[in-house]
Amino acid sequence: MSSSIQPIKQNASMVVFGASGDLAKKKTFPALFSLYKDGRLPQDLVIVGYARSKIEPNDFIERITQYIKIDDNDSETKQKLEEFKKMCTYYRGSYDEVESFQGLNKHLLEREGDRTERNRVFYLALPPDVFVPVATHLKQQCYPEKGAARLIIEKPFGFDLDSARELQSKLGPLFHENEVYRIDHYLGKEMVQNLVHLRFCNPIFSQLWNKDSISNVQITFKEPIGTEGRGGYFDSSTIVRDIVQNHLVQVLSLIAMEPPTTLSADDLRDAKVQALRRTRLGELQDVVLGQYIKSKDGKHPGYLDDETVPKGSKCPTYSAIPMFVDNDRWDGVPFLLKAGKAMNAGKVEVRVQFKPVANGLFNDAYHNELVIRIQPNEAVYLKMNIKQPGISSKPLLTDLDLTYKNRFTNMKLHEAYEALFFDAFAGDQSRFARIDELECAWTLVGPLLQYMEKEKPEPKPYEYGSEGPDCLNEFLQKFGYSYDTPDYYEYPVTNLPEDK
Ligand code: NDP
Ligand code: BG6
Repeated sequence: MSSSIQPIKQNASMVVFGASGDLAKKKTFPALFSLYKDGRLPQDLVIVGYARSKIEPNDFIERITQYIKIDDNDSETKQKLEEFKKMCTYYRGSYDEVESFQGLNKHLLEREGDRTERNRVFYLALPPDVFVPVATHLKQQCYPEKGAARLIIEKPFGFDLDSARELQSKLGPLFHENEVYRIDHYLGKEMVQNLVHLRFCNPIFSQLWNKDSISNVQITFKEPIGTEGRGGYFDSSTIVRDIVQNHLVQVLSLIAMEPPTTLSADDLRDAKVQALRRTRLGELQDVVLGQYIKSKDGKHPGYLDDETVPKGSKCPTYSAIPMFVDNDRWDGVPFLLKAGKAMNAGKVEVRVQFKPVANGLFNDAYHNELVIRIQPNEAVYLKMNIKQPGISSKPLLTDLDLTYKNRFTNMKLHEAYEALFFDAFAGDQSRFARIDELECAWTLVGPLLQYMEKEKPEPKPYEYGSEGPDCLNEFLQKFGYSYDTPDYYEYPVTNLPEDK
């Protein structure tokens, strides 16, 4: 996707703030290495990890490469890893003292050597309360006199609409919107990026993508693990801030938006914002909030068993939220955003259910459904009716199945962070959240957050490892989802129903 911002191809540095953290070792550095290995980073890139912890240089390298797995006999990649290690150093400093940033600038200058320009990418993988002091010192001490600056900011961007606006009011005067890359890592996922192509490259779908053909849309996030160890953070965040406001609302905007004028970052984000501005929450009384309790076998603790969670907390770890897009295309079509921790599976998918076939010719046909499986095992499949094979005229539900690993053998799908870092160097902001998108997303979930804070509704219990609160089926039925997958719907189909 194009953008008018110039790509950074050389004279490049990147500073990873919070380099002692979890994200750095699990995602950031493995993603940077993968890009380096594939020749997708500027060749002269200098990478500096920055944090307050005292870490010896060798330990730092050990730490940031521990999640990079290479086959024993892959000497080429091993060689690349040695080169990559030489590109990385660690600088210890605080997040609020000017001397630390003066020191960082000096360290950068030494590492960069003589350069005609200095292009610096600053990545803030830090808790949000230090975004402003860090950005302020960066602007004053490390901003290049000649060259480009990019500020990549981790989520969460604010806690609600007011705090997001306040954060922006402080960052705005420091870094131009063109320089700011707000991460929502879901936008870097292959199948999320694919939504634009599926919708606008395939007239068969674009013709049907509206209230006349679509009955309801589900966007589902399930994680098989709880909030163990993260309870402190999660309790104030809740599933609504942690997953729905950002990842699921972003997916909704890509499904609901009108065709953008072009695929440029601004046109794309304009289209998303327009859709979000017409989106509203359904009735609060229809929202399902849940909290996980101990698993049936007692092996997994309940949310409240975590010592970092305040006693008696009513924090929802599950939510099912109806939303509506009030425009001509979507009038009346429910978008059901479901997200839960400690569930029976790890799965993220979009399920577009089409309206039923007209009665008359066939009274026993199934609903068409287009499923976009974002993870794991990326796939797009269309559930459709065929004639039952053999001497029968009954409709049978099966699917047109595009499972990526079957179709694209030997193809490596990138990690979300690889795509995002690549884009940040390329100067492409289309997969980063613009401030008005975030404002819309906070506005959208605002009434629910206020209701949760004021009314403190009792979340419905569900067992760790279950499908969520019991009332979920009722919720889905109310919004028109028809669960009519027959028993034989499996791979390969071995037991067709008897033809009577
Ligand atoms: P960590 O909690 O591990 O924090 C990263 C580093 O920040 C720590 O190593 C620590 O470094 C420093 N730090 C921690 N707490 C504070 C504090 N109160 N004040 C100042 N510095 C602090 O977080 P992660 O590495 O897991 O994540 C980094 C950021 O990314 C977080 O803000 C998180 O919200 C976000 N995130 C995003 C995810 C996504 O999927 N997009 C997933 C997970 C996290 P030191 O003490 O050495 O300076
Ligand atoms: C993060 C949330 O944004 O996304 C985490 O803070 C969650 O709670 C994570 O686990 C899920 O990301 P992914 O890429 O594993 O689906």
